[in-house]
Amino acid sequence: MRDSDVNLYRPERLREEFGPFVATDEHLGAAIAENDIVGETYRRVLAETVAIVAHQWRNDIRRSALKGFLFHGGVGIGKTTMGRRIAYELSRLFGEGGEAAEHTHEDGQRHVHAGGDDVVLVIVDGADIARGRYGDSEEQLRKLFSFAREGEFHGHRHEDDAERRTVLLFDDVESLFLERGSSGAKEWHFSQNSVFFHAIDELDTAHTVVVLTTNRIDLVDTAIVDRFLSYEFLVPPADVLTQVARHRASLQKLPEELLMPVLQAIAAPDSTVRSIREVERLVTRAYVASIVGATSGTVR
Ligand SMILES: Nc1ncnc2c1ncn2[C@@H]1O[C@H](COP(=O)(O)OP(=O)(O)OP(=O)(O)O)[C@@H](O)[C@H]1O
Ligand SMILES: [Mg+2]
Repeated sequence: MRDSDVNLYRPERLREEFGPFVATDEHLGAAIAENDIVGETYRRVLAETVAIVAHQWRNDIRRSALKGFLFHGGVGIGKTTMGRRIAYELSRLFGEGGEAAEHTHEDGQRHVHAGGDDVVLVIVDGADIARGRYGDSEEQLRKLFSFAREGEFHGHRHEDDAERRTVLLFDDVESLFLERGSSGAKEWHFSQNSVFFHAIDELDTAHTVVVLTTNRIDLVDTAIVDRFLSYEFLVPPADVLTQVARHRASLQKLPEELLMPVLQAIAAPDSTVRSIREVERLVTRAYVASIVGATSGTVR
């Protein structure tokens, strides 16, 4: 398995999404990027999860009982985004120029050695594996984990090659690991689960962290739930949704008066706006209407 065989994110790709780091958050700890996630609860989850992983990576804790995190909750409220953001933060800490690569010499000068550890994010879509996009699903799972461990080098790495650290994100994991005994569970799910358990139990937690997301926690095998630290994502409060709406509107230079109806919809006591994705949709619709008129997007 090679880098090009998986959905691989290097830090540059994450920087395109979140923007460069602009400040450190004294209060919670994680850095602030130009186009960052917002909301106190989100910032808290980011800071906490990164602190845990950084501890394991920094102290070379290879056999931790804690393999990673399980993000569950409704649709479009930031579970997958959190996984990507965590990877970006870890690349700041451990990647090129990060603490792992910085040394202060006696002369007091800071020397940054090119090639701190490479931090990569691999996103695996549960449905892709279940559909056999990568061929036989057990074999593919096995390869994925060895890829996370070895990178492209297949164990033939040279002494001086930078070690790679990996965030392995299984997105919409319920499609992969149905609960044993659930009516949809087919025979192959059992052997697939056991491959997964084995790989998770063997995981090198000093170099890898696994993040799972799902909006069907009820379908995820409890043996999987038990191996991860779970975070429930709830519908964000109106002020977070408002912040997202304002931010999106400013990116598109949407004038305040055209954003007003969106803000009112969010603030309404009986608001039906229940996700960040819905907010983004409303802003985009207002934006399109501001250019071509309100009826656009309707095909009669
Ligand atoms: N904390 C946040 N602040 C600002 N924007 C966010 C935040 N979290 C998520 N978003 C934005 O909201 C949208 C939906 O997020 P995401 O895809 O991560 O949701 P999800 O919970 O994984 O949804 P699904 O269950 O459908 O997979 C994305 O466009 C993302 O950029
Ligand atoms: Mg998602």
